[in-house]
Amino acid sequence: MVIAIDGPAGAGKSTVARATAAALGFTYLDSGAMYRAVALAVLEGGGEPPDCAAALEIELGSRVLASGRDISVEIRTPEVTAAASGVATDPAVREALVAKQRALMTLGDWVAEGRDIGTVVVPDAGLKVFLTASPEARARRRALERGADWGTVLTEQTLRDQQDRSREHSPLRPAEDAVELDTTDRSIEDVVAQIVALVGRRRAG
Ligand code: DC
Repeated sequence: MVIAIDGPAGAGKSTVARATAAALGFTYLDSGAMYRAVALAVLEGGGEPPDCAAALEIELGSRVLASGRDISVEIRTPEVTAAASGVATDPAVREALVAKQRALMTLGDWVAEGRDIGTVVVPDAGLKVFLTASPEARARRRALERGADWGTVLTEQTLRDQQDRSREHSPLRPAEDAVELDTTDRSIEDVVAQIVALVGRRRAG
């Protein structure tokens, strides 16, 4: 079974997806790490984004490895974050990464996190969740994580949201059959418990 968790940056996707995977004994897939790995390769002069995406041998786990090199820290810098949003607009990059994500998820149980998991990567996912939170709450969480200025984070986030939502290929939007959960005033435990209960109901039904 695949559980798709999509939504904008700062909605709590990573924390919720990891905790849900741990609670259910499923494997966690961070699709954003793949877009970040392509962005890092491009910034390091590895070539055009589609070539970097095709060449990338990425391993996702507790660390992120690209052709054996640990890039877990490098892919989280503000430069890579900004560049990832750019490479994610390229249809050839998306096609290459979607193929890699589908290949990974052919067997077993997964909690996959991203922007287009429920709409494009696994349209027949057993459960689709679209996580949201107010822009202010999302910026506050990111600023706390990064020790950065709240106003700056909010400005960058607004730009990135706009780019993710308005891009021509696979824009960020909830799947028609997604359950939308607003995490603004909720604890992670509460949200995870609701998703686990939804999975239980889907399995029973
Ligand atoms: O979730 P994240 O912040 O690590 O994602 C990095 C970038 O990649 C972000 O700009 C959105 C993009 N992305 C995407 O377009 N599709 C996905 N499935 C995952 C991430």
